Amino acid sequence: MTDETALQRVFRGQSNPRPPIWLMRQAGRYLPEYRALRAKAPSFLDFCYDSDLAAEATLQPIRRFGFDAAILFTDILVVPDALGVKVGFEEGEGPRLAPVATAEALAALRGEIDLDRLAPVFETIRKVKAKLPGGTALLGFCGAPWTVTSYMVAGRGVADQAPARLLAYRDPNLFQALTDRLVDASIVYLNAQIEAGADAVQIFDSWAGILPSGEFRKWCVAPLGRIVAGVKRLWPRIPIIAFPRGANQHLHEVARATGADAIGLDTSTDLALAADLQRLKPVQGNLDPLVLLAGGEALDSAADDILAALGGGPLIFNLGHGILPQTPIAHVERLIRRVRGF
Ligand code: CP3
Repeated sequence: MTDETALQRVFRGQSNPRPPIWLMRQAGRYLPEYRALRAKAPSFLDFCYDSDLAAEATLQPIRRFGFDAAILFTDILVVPDALGVKVGFEEGEGPRLAPVATAEALAALRGEIDLDRLAPVFETIRKVKAKLPGGTALLGFCGAPWTVTSYMVAGRGVADQAPARLLAYRDPNLFQALTDRLVDASIVYLNAQIEAGADAVQIFDSWAGILPSGEFRKWCVAPLGRIVAGVKRLWPRIPIIAFPRGANQHLHEVARATGADAIGLDTSTDLALAADLQRLKPVQGNLDPLVLLAGGEALDSAADDILAALGGGPLIFNLGHGILPQTPIAHVERLIRRVRGF
């Protein structure tokens, strides 16, 4: 017997009518035990950098639901933090960063990511790994350069990513230099997560879908490909999931051109397109977080549709975006029973 996880079997291309399941943002505010834990840290970043609290947050949804994968509890914005950007999370308002939109601001960043600052993240991985049940995979992650730089340039989340898109048009050399910094930092960061014990990693490109094709190639496909190559050079057997949210018309290109091992699908991806994509690469997704919130028969039938369309090929069942804080726990339990067939 090997201790191969259900996720590893999917990455090997195995189909399973009862696929493994985990949920994006499975550690979070919909769980009372998360809210209690979160209250122990003065700020969200303090929470991320406290390896006891972060390990506990990572394990909570595993204990409660027995998901097939745990995802490291931290945030994509620890990378700019470890490049020397001032990062904060305003309660109820989302992230705030000191904007990096000029050559001077870029020059003030660290040349290399500060792994000492991120030491608690790697410590979290080691603590989780020691407690994770056999057969449960541990996922590390980072944000893709386009998504992270869009927060860095704007200094906050904005609906249309206009500040980053404008900078990329007005000063492509500066934007390229910023992207390069994130590519290098992401490679070092993911390699260190894997060294600490991550079994696979996911790259979240949450704002990929907003870009026109030419820009998508420059700022999403190319950097993703470089990160995959940089990780594969050290860790050729560690699977990498790319999640280019909102980029339906480009999914085949991402699958072919980046070297990623699996593609994360968002809620909007048509299941016939997903099934076609699945002939190239394993896929992950893509239940609507709102149907999970709604529950009942709508939930059952949406889950069944995904299983019917994609259960015949390599599939990791997931949401199409993060779970919503108002989601009832009973609906998550119902979904897991439906997917596992009991
Ligand atoms: O999935 C998990 O359970 C692991 C943890 C995780 C978090 N953020 C914790 C978090 C992961 C994988 C992320 C990724 C992340 N962070 C993304 C990419 C995925 C996506 O959702 O598109 C992005 C864009 C961010 C940036 C970010 N972090 C925003 C915009 C916010 C504020 C919005 C919000 O939901 O509050 C955060 C904060 C954040 N990151 C929270 C959590 C649990 C909520 C903060 C809290 O608990 O007080």
